[in-house]
Amino acid sequence: MSDHKNEIYDVVGVGFGPSNLSLAIALEEHRPSGMENEISSLFLERQATFGWHRNMLLPSATMQISFLKDLVSFRNPTSSFSFVAYLHASGRLPQFVNNQDFFPTRQEFHHYLEWAQARVADRIAYGSEVLSVRLPSGAGPERSDHLRLEVEDATGRGGRTVLARNVVISTGLVPSMPAGADRDERVWHSSEFLEKYRRMDPRELRRVAVAGAGQSAAEITRFLYDELPHAQVCAVVPSYGYSIADDSPFANQVFDPGAVDAYYFGTEQTRDAFWRYHRNTNYSVVDDDVIRGLYRRMYDDEVRGVRRLEFLNLMRVAGVKRVGAETRVCLQGGPDGAVRELNVDALVCATGYDAMEPTHLLGDLDRICLRDEEGRYRVERDYRIATAPDMRCGIYLQGGTEHTHGLTSSLLSNIASRSGEIVDSIVARRTARDAENTVLAQVGGDVSE
Ligand code: FDA
Ligand code: NAP
Repeated sequence: MSDHKNEIYDVVGVGFGPSNLSLAIALEEHRPSGMENEISSLFLERQATFGWHRNMLLPSATMQISFLKDLVSFRNPTSSFSFVAYLHASGRLPQFVNNQDFFPTRQEFHHYLEWAQARVADRIAYGSEVLSVRLPSGAGPERSDHLRLEVEDATGRGGRTVLARNVVISTGLVPSMPAGADRDERVWHSSEFLEKYRRMDPRELRRVAVAGAGQSAAEITRFLYDELPHAQVCAVVPSYGYSIADDSPFANQVFDPGAVDAYYFGTEQTRDAFWRYHRNTNYSVVDDDVIRGLYRRMYDDEVRGVRRLEFLNLMRVAGVKRVGAETRVCLQGGPDGAVRELNVDALVCATGYDAMEPTHLLGDLDRICLRDEEGRYRVERDYRIATAPDMRCGIYLQGGTEHTHGLTSSLLSNIASRSGEIVDSIVARRTARDAENTVLAQVGGDVSE
């Protein structure tokens, strides 16, 4: 990482998950002919080391996209950062091919991401939480050629300021809990599952409940059933049983790079149709093999005359009460619509996530960002937030753009192409600005660069 305190970076990434890792590689591979300077960049990540949903790295969990939708291949199939290149470097390429599986485990994909990030480590600052993004004090958007990021250092060395011409925000999904359920040592969100689980003595977990009917819920239910042979596992499922994630070929087209254009330039009806017909490719759905594995376990128990896995269908968690050491979960619904309580030793709320929301980071700067009739950010096709026209700096979003760019916004499917598009946009704007400055200099104008 550069030590230049007053350096103005061309690009500063906020958050360093797969999206901004993919961007860092796209910048690394950007070697334009005739451009004098490479694009300087810095990525700020609050975690102490790289980690991609570590608390859900369950032993047999597999990826939900093909390994070919890695960090780079859809942008640059010849990249040395591809999943195939990683397999080759790890000496496992022949075995991977023999295995004939498009979907590696999440553990293996995590190794791949760690391998890739190590190769761009000189521009990542871990343990760095971005608190705010602002214009320099006293400067209007038309005057300033950079933004100021206030960064808190997790190592306790205090705060610092980072300057950027463009900021790419990619801070990820935000865990969502049911109303009336607060997280504590017995009430967990799926995003903190392994960390909280490992703090417990498994013998204390005799009755556990998992709320939700998405992939996280099903994977955690399977994990708890297998890891706690003495325990009863209750799945609180809002539907009448898990529904399958549609990953059949035609439906899968909604994740193609071309679908972003169809969504972005489509009418309101087009966008509605994407959600109406294809929400079940991702939300509140579970992979076929996980569903079948859980049903098999329940059936085998029935044959043996035990009932360790209980499905409470058509139920939602409506609140949680702590009474002494007991955790009482209030459930609402069921075929009779009744309210009932369930006493558990731990409740896991696999109740999903809210979209990325950068408003708190932007503070006053948010006033320069344009919103639509529903109060959502207007976002250009190149993922730059639409701003007042005199704003010279760029604020780009990787995530939080489902309303403008569609289903891939929070997923991995499109990160390679999206990162390439963001780099292209930043380069094009820089080239235009340089040309403008040259003209102004020639006519003796006042160039504030
Ligand atoms: P991601 O959430 O990964 O990274 C954001 C980063 O920003 C984090 O590292 C966070 O610490 C950091 N951060 C947040 N605020 C910050 C701040 N203020 N300052 C500095 N750093 C900050 N999708 C898919 O297509 N295929 C799949 O197989 C899966 N699998 C999957 C498993 C699980 C368990 C979950 C929960 C989700 C998935 N997903 C998925 C969807 C998931 O959103 C996607 O895989 C990526 O995590 C998206 O990458 P991002 O980099 O955008 O966010
Ligand atoms: P999700 O798909 O949004 O599912 C959340 C579930 O919680 C839904 O079934 C929802 O039901 C339910 N729910 C919400 N409030 C509830 C309440 N009060 N009581 C009971 N249930 C409630 O979230 P997710 O499963 O965490 O998945 C999020 C993303 O991560 C998806 O993209 C998924 O594919 C991904 N993921 C991937 C893997 C993997 O790669 N192996 C693993 C886990 C997750 P309603 O719909 O009725 O509200």
